[in-house]
Amino acid sequence: MLLKLTLVMMMACITSSHIEATLQVGFYRDKCPFAEAIIKDVVKKSFIINQGIAPGIVRLQFHDCFVRGCDGSILLDSTPINQAEKDGPPNGITIRGLEVIDIAKARLEAVCKGVVSCADILAFAARDSVVLTGGLYWDVAAGRRDGRISRASETVDIPSPSFNLNQIIQSFANKGLTQGDMVALLGAHTIGRSHCFSFTDRLYNYSTRMMQDPNLNPYYAELLKQRCPRVLPQILNETLVVFMNQSPYLIDQSYYENLFEHAGLFISDQALLDSQTTSQQAAIYAANGLAWEVDFVKAMINLSQIQVLTGNQGEIRANCRVINPY
Ligand code: HEM
Ligand SMILES: *[C@@H]1O[C@H](CO)[C@@H](O)[C@H](O)[C@H]1NC(C)=O
Ligand SMILES: *[C@@H]1O[C@H](CO)[C@@H](O)[C@H](O)[C@H]1NC(C)=O
Ligand SMILES: *[C@@H]1O[C@H](CO)[C@@H](O)[C@H](O)[C@H]1NC(C)=O
Repeated sequence: MLLKLTLVMMMACITSSHIEATLQVGFYRDKCPFAEAIIKDVVKKSFIINQGIAPGIVRLQFHDCFVRGCDGSILLDSTPINQAEKDGPPNGITIRGLEVIDIAKARLEAVCKGVVSCADILAFAARDSVVLTGGLYWDVAAGRRDGRISRASETVDIPSPSFNLNQIIQSFANKGLTQGDMVALLGAHTIGRSHCFSFTDRLYNYSTRMMQDPNLNPYYAELLKQRCPRVLPQILNETLVVFMNQSPYLIDQSYYENLFEHAGLFISDQALLDSQTTSQQAAIYAANGLAWEVDFVKAMINLSQIQVLTGNQGEIRANCRVINPY
């Protein structure tokens, strides 16, 4: 506990040097003093009812930031003339936690109307979700503004679970994130779940010559096949899920340990062992969970600052699901 506390204090120094002048820690201190406390309260109460909202919200932050930057665009609903990001292929039925953001927004609008952006709510809620699942705390720099555009077609920027190492490195580089950030961020798969359809090609349809991915631990593959039969009626296709880890609501280094047992769930997870530099970084994290958590926090801060709108760009949405009327 003391060690964690010391680290948190050290981190406050490390992080403040990275933060761009445009986003500020304590941004709402005068504008809406209880903003962070309200968001934390909403996330915590929702987590008590359904722990799954924590991984859900962490993933929402990633998917928001990879498409048009961290501008809350994933929160917008589709309209008759526009299919929004949330209905794009990597999102659709797999995302969760949106209603938590709605509850937080409603409570914030009641006390400080038009002040706290949806993009910032998501950034705070992602941090709170990490802390609730046992990760380290960090100060979130705020001042993000909400975008007015959300297009399902742009979700192609979100990497696919069938990507190889070069493809995932490139996809993170396209967003200004380093290979090091990428290796640390993928550890987020220490929490949460996956639908069967996100990985069953590895079990039944790997290539023209092999049904099963030879890079997948055969015992783990057997387990996955039991949980995820090859052919599923549509209703089960949309509801059958597996946990990505033995401790799905606990942030720990087991994600990296699993990789060395060839038990990474996605091709993109297992790909971290495909180069010397990435596999060495994964080995360090597997051996030292605290080293991973410290890097994970730094990488989450980098992630949460991708292409943010600030100043008088964008707007502060009144409802996170719809853009403001002009
Ligand atoms: C190469 C990069 C990545 C790929 C290909 C990828 C892919 C996926 C897929 C396919 C799922 C399962 C969705 C489902 O079927 O329900 C998932 C879940 C998840 N991902 Fe990733 N992901 C990547 C990176 C990240 C990053 C950077 C983060 C956060 C920092 C993240 C956080 C999560 C979380 C927390 C879940 C669990 C969601 C839940 O339980 O609702 N992922 N990811
Ligand atoms: C198997 O994989 C091929 C190539 O990726 C794809 O075209 C085909 O639709 C897949 N079949 C099934 C049953 O998923
Ligand atoms: C299963 O559901 C996903 C998401 O809705 C869809 O993309 C996929 O095509 C479905 N697969 C089958 C075999 O129905
Ligand atoms: C985060 O971004 C900074 C500035 O671009 C960079 O120096 C650093 O390596 C990145 N990653 C981490 C984990 O700090």
